[in-house]
Amino acid sequence: MQYSTILGIESSCDDTAASVLINGKIRSNVSASQAVHERYGGVVPELASRAHQENILPVVLEALEKAGVSMQEIDAIAYTKGPGLMGSLLVGINFAKGLGMALDKPLIGVDHLQAHVAALYIEHSPEFPFLCLLVSGGHTMLLLVKEGMDMDIVGSTLDDAAGEAFDKGAKMLGLRYPGGPLIDAFAQKGNAVAFSFPVSRMPALDFSFSGIKTSLLYFLRDHEKRQPGFAHARIADICASYQKAIVDMLLIQFEAGINSLKPRAIALCGGVSMNSELRTRVQKLGADRELPVYIPSFEYCTDNAAMIAVAGQMMLEK
Ligand code: KG4
Ligand code: ZN
Repeated sequence: MQYSTILGIESSCDDTAASVLINGKIRSNVSASQAVHERYGGVVPELASRAHQENILPVVLEALEKAGVSMQEIDAIAYTKGPGLMGSLLVGINFAKGLGMALDKPLIGVDHLQAHVAALYIEHSPEFPFLCLLVSGGHTMLLLVKEGMDMDIVGSTLDDAAGEAFDKGAKMLGLRYPGGPLIDAFAQKGNAVAFSFPVSRMPALDFSFSGIKTSLLYFLRDHEKRQPGFAHARIADICASYQKAIVDMLLIQFEAGINSLKPRAIALCGGVSMNSELRTRVQKLGADRELPVYIPSFEYCTDNAAMIAVAGQMMLEK
């Protein structure tokens, strides 16, 4: 391996993260998440950029210290080049470029979405081709991964991402950002068939989540009119039913993809792959279809720099 020690840097949204990969093993994975956005119900781009600027140096130094390496021992620096919030990305890109220049080390820009797929390689050696459902706060897509970082997008959302359906739904329910984990937690105490939300079926392997979001809005408005305090009183049942509809939509297209593309394995990645119902249903889908299932551990599902380091190394070695 020519590049055995890689520093990964991720700053595309609201997490400032750094990680060190040595000889194929993650030695540190540090992340500073930004609480500043909680009360706004979503990420405020300008506040995110400023927080990245404050966090990036301490986060990188901590990642190096935890891995027990000095800056000079790094062989290459991998950073997220996009997609993401422009101001946030620029903080990571400029930091990586400055460091690379000062240390005279090679740099590699990594696609954030491909890196979410690379997160699977941290703990697994999947069979190829595998069909991967990538679900995050900004993207929802089906990818046919042919080998390593060689993948084709075979389906994607036509409007909102699944993570947005969770976050915006949570906001309507008066829950703080990010709402996905809170809906998941309430759903575990609720009845998923208490209410029914529309499950839209898109052509081919695409997705749409704007309809379900609007239906929650009208559902809450109508019930609150008749029974003030309804949302608060029935929060667990609403969360369970709403989550079920989102997961149903994801699973319908995932299964359609398996039928048409006949992959040798299936996988799940991105922040929404933290969702307990989704993880369980995807495991069951794999078992029913006799296909191996790969899902990252929690720390590699949401945005992290370990996946950037792994993707960067694969690209450099190639
Ligand atoms: O991949 P990620 O960290 O950032 C992006 O690249 O967008 O994904 C963040 C998304 C947020 O929408 C968050 O609400 C969602 O992942 N999320 C969850 C859960 N944990 C995080 N959604 C549903 N259930 C969860 N347990
Ligand atoms: Zn992400």
